[in-house]
Amino acid sequence: MLTHIPNVLTNEQLSACRRALDRAAWIDGRATAGYQSSRVKDNQQLREGDPTARELGDMILAALTRLPLFIAAALPLKVVPPLFNRYRDGQTYGNHVDGAVQPVAGTSDRVRSDLSATVFLSAPEDYDGGELVVEDSYGAHRIKLPAGDMILYPGGSLHRVEPVTRGVRLASFFWIQSMVREDGQRRLLFDLDTAIQQLAQAVPDHGAVPLVTSVYHNLLRRWAEA
Ligand code: NI
Repeated sequence: MLTHIPNVLTNEQLSACRRALDRAAWIDGRATAGYQSSRVKDNQQLREGDPTARELGDMILAALTRLPLFIAAALPLKVVPPLFNRYRDGQTYGNHVDGAVQPVAGTSDRVRSDLSATVFLSAPEDYDGGELVVEDSYGAHRIKLPAGDMILYPGGSLHRVEPVTRGVRLASFFWIQSMVREDGQRRLLFDLDTAIQQLAQAVPDHGAVPLVTSVYHNLLRRWAEA
């Protein structure tokens, strides 16, 4: 399941992000790539634990807690502190799969990457190329979102970032371990949750609302690790 979550960051937050990232200490993105992905990766990143990354990452994590769509779609258990990358001058990241288990820098904690997230920080008209292409059983999805929007996609999918041939593409990326490991189960819960919200809004006193709500929670109880 791919989920587009609009307006994660406000315009003011985006301006603050871009100003801070302009002055930040970028390093070669291959520093955090495994053997296979280092062969296709050509971008820049902020070091894990970089003070700018930590400050902006905390801002994104705080924003996520206020987004019901994120909570409903991801059912988050643990989130890796957000990282930041930059592509320009033809930089690209070829087809790869993210590591299944992501260490959390500076701790002994690890996060299983059930979901990958990208928050677009540059306006799409400010660069050419740079689409995130995610492949799933329905084919390839080309994703280029407004600044401040986020895409959630299954952590196990093959994906790439197309070459940026004009301008600069800034983004934040991170991984989420969900309470519900299986993408298909998470999808069922998300659809059921959406239907319950619609029903409760259209017919608030309908006698079926408590029953379908109990089905949601009993499925979550059956599938969740918490
Ligand atoms: Ni990736």
